[in-house]
Amino acid sequence: MLSKITVVGAGNVGATTAQRLAEKSLARTVVLVDVIEGVPQGKGLDQWESAPIEGFDTRVIGANDYGPAAGSEAFVVTAGIARKPGMSRDDLVRTNADIVKQVSQQIKQASPNAIVIVVSNPLDVMCWVTKQVTGFPRERVFGMAGVLDTARYRSFLAEALDVSVDDIQAMVLGGHGDTMVPLVSYTTVSGIPVTQLLDKAKLDKIVDRTRNGGAEIVAFLKTGSAYYAPSAAAVQMVESIALDKKRVLPCAAWLEGEYGLSGIYCGVPCKLGRKGLEQILQVELSADEKAALAKSANAVKETMAAVKL
Ligand SMILES: NC(=O)c1ccc[n+]([C@@H]2O[C@H](COP(=O)([O-])OP(=O)(O)OC[C@H]3O[C@@H](n4cnc5c(N)ncnc54)[C@H](O)[C@@H]3O)[C@@H](O)[C@H]2O)c1
Repeated sequence: MLSKITVVGAGNVGATTAQRLAEKSLARTVVLVDVIEGVPQGKGLDQWESAPIEGFDTRVIGANDYGPAAGSEAFVVTAGIARKPGMSRDDLVRTNADIVKQVSQQIKQASPNAIVIVVSNPLDVMCWVTKQVTGFPRERVFGMAGVLDTARYRSFLAEALDVSVDDIQAMVLGGHGDTMVPLVSYTTVSGIPVTQLLDKAKLDKIVDRTRNGGAEIVAFLKTGSAYYAPSAAAVQMVESIALDKKRVLPCAAWLEGEYGLSGIYCGVPCKLGRKGLEQILQVELSADEKAALAKSANAVKETMAAVKL
């Protein structure tokens, strides 16, 4: 168990993340910070009042400043505005960059040794903003996207094959956008290559649905975007850190030559433990997958160019 985790942004993703962290007892204290007066305090208190029923002792505290966040070992950054119908992730870039810049300055002051998991979109670019502003090493600034994209891919495959989600092993790499790269060649069902169980047309459809997974939810909700699966994904990353599980999860990591890419955040397989991002694993990719990853990286670079730090 960590001593303190702070979730910045008490909206849909942030509040659900705080609740999941508390229910899993991953920290002694969970702090929710938001700019809206009363909202983090109200949601934090409401969650704490569920403790006797759910059986956790994690104190959930809400605040509009970073005083209570001081000394946090980990931050989950969800501050920003959510995507609206018809809006691409990249449309969000300038507004959210300003918000994340301001949040990063506060994190650096409140907890200079913290690990920061970025969730705000456009994800890969917000990770870069956080790294630049905090000056933290790449081991302590990385992003959540691949765990969510992979969960969506796995859920669609489990549905198509009518098997347990537990038996679908898969990984989605690349940027968090329409150019993400589901690795079909590494997708197995209890070790059986998925290509032996589903024909190409069906697999292509599932890959396509995965790429548009966020937009599918936005189209249903009309206002706001997904938060149950995104918060579960962020919490899985925190859990691997808090419990030093050393899970291998796809995370947006700052690349320094891995996969032939540098100077960008991109989704790659990472080992997460108590020190944060402890290792980037390099796997062999097919020519098609390599090309898709390069295309995805280019899309991230183009969005980075829109932000002035
Ligand atoms: N990486 C992913 O896979 C993924 C998945 C889902 C959502 N997201 C992103 O996460 C972010 C949050 O989504 P949401 O659905 O919770 O949105 P939301 O609108 O429900 O919540 C965002 C919250 O951030 C707060 N906020 C704004 N500026 C702030 C600041 N300077 N400091 C602290 N809080 C601030 C707002 O008041 C609001 O409560 C969005 O950018 C969304 O696109 C990313």
